[in-house]
Amino acid sequence: MGKAGQVALVTGASSGIGRETAIMLAEKGFQVLAAARRMDRLTELAGQVEGITPIDVDLSDPDDLEKFCQHISGLSEPVSVLINNAGYSLRGVLEDVAIEAAKRMFQVNVFALMRVTQACLPGMRKMRGGTIVNLSSMAGKFAFPGSGPYAATKHAVEAITDALRIEIRPFGIRVVAIRPGFIATEFNDVATTETGDLFARTDPDYKPVYETSGKGIGSMFAGVTVPGPELIANIIVEAVLSDSPKAVYHAGLFSEEFLENRAKLDDEGFDAYLSEKTGLKDLKL
Ligand SMILES: NC(=O)c1ccc[n+]([C@@H]2O[C@H](COP(=O)([O-])OP(=O)(O)OC[C@H]3O[C@@H](n4cnc5c(N)ncnc54)[C@H](OP(=O)(O)O)[C@@H]3O)[C@@H](O)[C@H]2O)c1
Repeated sequence: MGKAGQVALVTGASSGIGRETAIMLAEKGFQVLAAARRMDRLTELAGQVEGITPIDVDLSDPDDLEKFCQHISGLSEPVSVLINNAGYSLRGVLEDVAIEAAKRMFQVNVFALMRVTQACLPGMRKMRGGTIVNLSSMAGKFAFPGSGPYAATKHAVEAITDALRIEIRPFGIRVVAIRPGFIATEFNDVATTETGDLFARTDPDYKPVYETSGKGIGSMFAGVTVPGPELIANIIVEAVLSDSPKAVYHAGLFSEEFLENRAKLDDEGFDAYLSEKTGLKDLKL
């Protein structure tokens, strides 16, 4: 696929995977539209890397999202590569997740992804080409306890991606899902901030659940190195530049192990495996 001067839109380009992807695409000659809320970060990035244009958008705000999409639809040079990357996670057992907070996360991780894609599709159809890369997660295929609503957003991304791939293949538009495992970005800190103090608000009943699963999951990280966002950005760019990208890519800490077990085990078996991994298998309260 030719790339010089083509327009690539990267959502969530102010940090982590999106930032690295924006840099790598600009280095490959794309004109990169880098979207996020933190304009200071985006402006600094645009000053450092040629070919990056910052765009301010809060994807959790439906009016702002709409304004952004109108801007995208009206571009004289349409977007030919869309990286739907913006997203975040909330933690907590179901009883501790406020519905409004979950709705906001769905707005960013799912509905904004849908709407931004809708804004880019007419231009791609006209070109009879283009690539859409959706950031799912290994949590798009299973759910860690204490992270159900986040996993639900990524299951939704998987479903939307799978249907879209087949819907728009006839127009020559390629659709790719990326399933990262754990990657060292600001993702964890954002989840902590967005979630707030779970321990302060949870019912005492749940404290041993958090403590046990916290220890179980924590022990998985002992002595391992969490890869940085370049790992995923490289895969995204490889998919964009490929003549025949795969439908799905995965990479990152534990993605191979968890996704392989999810594919191999039946539902009972995977439940037992994940209960064991998270230390919750033998907890009785
Ligand atoms: N890191 C991991 O372990 C991991 C694993 C699996 C999947 N993923 C997925 O990978 C994607 C990128 O995450 P990351 O790890 O790179 O995290 P990150 O460093 O926290 O980056 C998230 C990006 O999303 C943007 N964003 C969040 N809320 C937004 C909003 N309301 N409006 C506009 N932009 C918003 C942030 O920009 P602003 O705050 O400036 O708006 C930021 O640029 C996410 O979809 C995430 O779910 C990450």
